[in-house]
Amino acid sequence: MNKKAFIKSYGCQMNVYDSARMADVLAGLGYGKAAGPEEADLVILNTCHIREKAAEKVYSELGRLRILKDQRGRDGTPLMLGVAGCVAQAEGEEMLRRAPYLDIVVGPQAYHRLPDLLARAQHGSAIDTEFPPEPKFDFLPAPSVPGAVSAFLTVQEGCDKFCSFCVVPYTRGAEFSRPASDVIDEARRLVDLGAREITLLGQNVNAYHGAAPDGAAEWGLGRLIRALAEIDRLARIRYTTSHPRDMDDALITAHGVVPQLMPYLHLPVQSGADRILRAMNRRHGVDDYLDIIDRLRASRPDIALSSDFIVGHPGETDKDFTATLDLVRRVGFAQAYSFKYSPRPGTPAATESDQVPEDVKSERLAVLHDLLEEQQRSFNRATEGRVVPVLFERAGRRPRQVTGRTPWMQAVHVEVADANTGASLAGAVAPVEILAAKTNSLAGRIAA
Ligand code: SAH
Ligand code: SF4
Ligand code: F3S
Repeated sequence: MNKKAFIKSYGCQMNVYDSARMADVLAGLGYGKAAGPEEADLVILNTCHIREKAAEKVYSELGRLRILKDQRGRDGTPLMLGVAGCVAQAEGEEMLRRAPYLDIVVGPQAYHRLPDLLARAQHGSAIDTEFPPEPKFDFLPAPSVPGAVSAFLTVQEGCDKFCSFCVVPYTRGAEFSRPASDVIDEARRLVDLGAREITLLGQNVNAYHGAAPDGAAEWGLGRLIRALAEIDRLARIRYTTSHPRDMDDALITAHGVVPQLMPYLHLPVQSGADRILRAMNRRHGVDDYLDIIDRLRASRPDIALSSDFIVGHPGETDKDFTATLDLVRRVGFAQAYSFKYSPRPGTPAATESDQVPEDVKSERLAVLHDLLEEQQRSFNRATEGRVVPVLFERAGRRPRQVTGRTPWMQAVHVEVADANTGASLAGAVAPVEILAAKTNSLAGRIAA
């Protein structure tokens, strides 16, 4: 009988990519894909540790799965339970103490060792949270099943920046870039499997410095993108997440000269106050950020910007917060995420004495969120009446609806005559007239 696995991803896109690679490893062990935990023989939660809420979600989900596991044990159809990702890495053995019924705990750099872990788990809980010297990418099987129109491809992992608030350097380990030729091979394969858009991923993707194909030097992200742009049928290239410190000239120039590189950039700034940026160890100031934006806009005038913000980092005053609002007004974002600062164990900011009270954080978040949402609405409204190229990805939620994205990442829903027209559009780039804009999406029709 064929076994089945169910993998659930939390957190960032890198977890989505990793989950797909874990599914490939499991496929090699005879595991098919399960639609849900009920029909699975193995369930893996691929977890996120970035904020407290994210980490706690895992334990409530595990509580539910434990009941299923007990039931399945009684029925004689055993269910194996595993935790992967950043919570597994951060908590390690502690996870097994809190959830002793877990079969496996595996950190983000050890996924290629899953076969061994599963074998060990036959004799009791197995754990692997090492940072092995060999990169997992060298051992993970290449993507092999036809996938989405828009695919992820991890090119860089880890982080050496140690921002005051952030767990990533501890959970993902030191920065590492994949060799350019590996990335190009994988991109070609993804395109062969149906991808028309590839989003290059990394915790610090623009710090990419992989070995060049000739082995003589290293390539930065700008150079890598130019090489990927030579792949036939790859219509769109994106990358995320970038750090302002690593926004070099070659990358900024690429935005002006590579048509496949989409005019949209997620460039987290976190705060608009120099004091707080220093306290955060971001190693750039507000002026540096604004200068990057100017240069990007000079290179690609229609580039849309997105960002992440943290309100209530230790030491943040009302004046600092006002400076953040000023920065938002000066830049004008197409989209952005804002978070209340969440103290994370083991990070320097968590033990600072000048923590901001929860109610102040909530107030600031509401104000910032309203401003960002207003900017997003007006950005979306500005596309009303225009004809824009849309890459169609899949059938929409409603019948006879197809969904795609504009170059600026806006989701677009289009009504079509019948399901066949919808299916034939998936993977195509077509001109769409935008009829109406909402906060989170646009409605349009295929332009004649
Ligand atoms: N590498 C990216 C960010 C990765 S984490 C960068 O350098 O910008 C994604 C986002 O989560 C961050 O940009 C930050 O805004 C938020 N975040 C990280 N740690 C946080 C914390 N302790 N509390 C609240 N938000 C946090
Ligand atoms: Fe975290 Fe800072 Fe590294 Fe981004 S750059 S992953 S925020 S430590
Ligand atoms: Fe979360 Fe780890 Fe990604 S902490 S945001 S899953 S790198």
